[in-house]
Amino acid sequence: MKRIKDAKPYSICAVLLLIPFLLGFTLPCGDTSPVNDGFEDLMGFYGEIASNADEMIEAGREIFRFDTFGDEEFWGGQLGLHRAIAGRRFGGVGPGLTPNKALELGLKVDVDALPESLVTDLQQGRVDLDDPATTLALLKSDAVVGVTGFFDADGSIESFGIQCALCHSTVDDAFAPGVGRRLDGWANRDLNVGAIIALAPNLQAFTDVLRVDEQTVRSVLNSWGPGKFDAILILDGKAFQPDGTSGATLIPPAFGRTGVNLITWTGWGSVPYWNAFVANLEMHGKGTFFDPRLNDDEKFPIAAREGFGNVRSDTDRITPKLAALHFYQLSIPAPDPPEGSFDSEAAKRGETLFSGKADCARCHVPPLFVEPGWNMHTPEEIGIDAFQANRSPDGRYRTAPLKGIWTHMEGGFFHDGRFAILLDVIEHYDEVFSLQLTNDEKDDLVEYLKSLGSKDSGSDGTVAVDSPTWPEKH
Ligand code: HEC
Ligand code: HEC
Repeated sequence: MKRIKDAKPYSICAVLLLIPFLLGFTLPCGDTSPVNDGFEDLMGFYGEIASNADEMIEAGREIFRFDTFGDEEFWGGQLGLHRAIAGRRFGGVGPGLTPNKALELGLKVDVDALPESLVTDLQQGRVDLDDPATTLALLKSDAVVGVTGFFDADGSIESFGIQCALCHSTVDDAFAPGVGRRLDGWANRDLNVGAIIALAPNLQAFTDVLRVDEQTVRSVLNSWGPGKFDAILILDGKAFQPDGTSGATLIPPAFGRTGVNLITWTGWGSVPYWNAFVANLEMHGKGTFFDPRLNDDEKFPIAAREGFGNVRSDTDRITPKLAALHFYQLSIPAPDPPEGSFDSEAAKRGETLFSGKADCARCHVPPLFVEPGWNMHTPEEIGIDAFQANRSPDGRYRTAPLKGIWTHMEGGFFHDGRFAILLDVIEHYDEVFSLQLTNDEKDDLVEYLKSLGSKDSGSDGTVAVDSPTWPEKH
């Protein structure tokens, strides 16, 4: 086993060869065999790869955090959300959204975006958190994570758009609860998406598509609760599970998906597939989206009727961004758990059980924690009902990647949060697979799950490889 970090593939001469290359010309360096020439070329292209990676990460981060893809025409233009945020006093409707109410709805504030003076005022308690004017000031500073207010020349809010970061980022609470530095890719399990949308004065965009009255739309939106969103509602119109609980699913993290084939709880597709799906159909950005599976009018009656399987906007503000967005997401590692947040001795025992007696590794294959290949299972295989699986093209559930699970302990586990705590998940498997785990063994498995971060993938800055992958210079 060799680790790339430890491997020393370049000889001194190779490094010297790079210097003239970087200066834009070549010098003979003793040995000019064909192998050497090949190596030089390779380093040249390697340089291009490295700078490409840097640029893609930078561009992708901007898109993930700040790009609305033109969706303000929907959230502001059609729904009028900015009017509810501003409130009557500032030319909108209703009481307006105070910062306290916004934080209560799970919106987060990026402390790095706040002007120095505002930070000082906040520290000294001089900011009125019950005044919508403060919310507007925060929006003007671009400090509310995942949303953008658009202001006209005289400073009045005229529209409002959303970003990926709204649902898939939170903050570290370093300044105050809900106020801190951005944590890109983390699931915002505090965010009450439904209640936020329900603030909108005009829900006609939803009543038209769902063909129900406004009161019904509002009560469905308010049934989701924190940390959940129903991405399939506008495809099939099914708001509730047969037992009457909400059809919304938990917001999953967007980190740690490198190496994972199918994503979303029900395996709709790959990362770039789903990014295009969400940006076009859910965020209502302007772009192109193609998936003939949505023409199935039994499974997706609304999508089939509305032609969601073949979307072509006049201008495409999504497709040119998909590559960098994909790249950035894949570069976000699953965060490592804080020290002392789990019992490491118990976690070690849990690791042995995970791949042994408890047989979890059959599906959650370490170090990816999903199957390499087609990572999907029928509802029977994991002992749960088929409701959500049947709302997707394959009728299956995707093996959930487990790294960084400690970041989303709020809201429960499995797609709808049906298991409140990790122990409930283990109890479920114990019963379904007749594992006959003792109570101590169950606790050990829980500690192991809590311990999973990127280190367990070998991605602590090193990549495990079986043999050197770098050409040796002879
Ligand atoms: C309104 C909230 C919301 C917004 C905005 C949003 N997502 Fe999601 N995202 C979700 C929910 C909910 C799911 C789970 C859907 C499901 O499985 O049915 C999801 C699933 C995902 C997943 C799959 C993770 C996994 O392994 O299951 C990724 C990746 C993702 N979103 C990335 C993005 C990106 C990139 C954007 C911006 C283009 C975005 N999301 C915008 C709520 C949101
Ligand atoms: C047959 C394949 C299979 C086996 C075996 C299996 N799992 Fe899973 N696991 C899944 C699938 C599929 C899901 C997603 C369920 C859903 O979406 O509702 C999942 C979900 C989970 C979740 C919830 C993740 C989240 O984000 O909510 C945890 C935790 C988990 N499994 C742990 C385990 C443990 C521990 C074992 C061993 C006792 C195990 N799994 C055995 C397939 C499997």
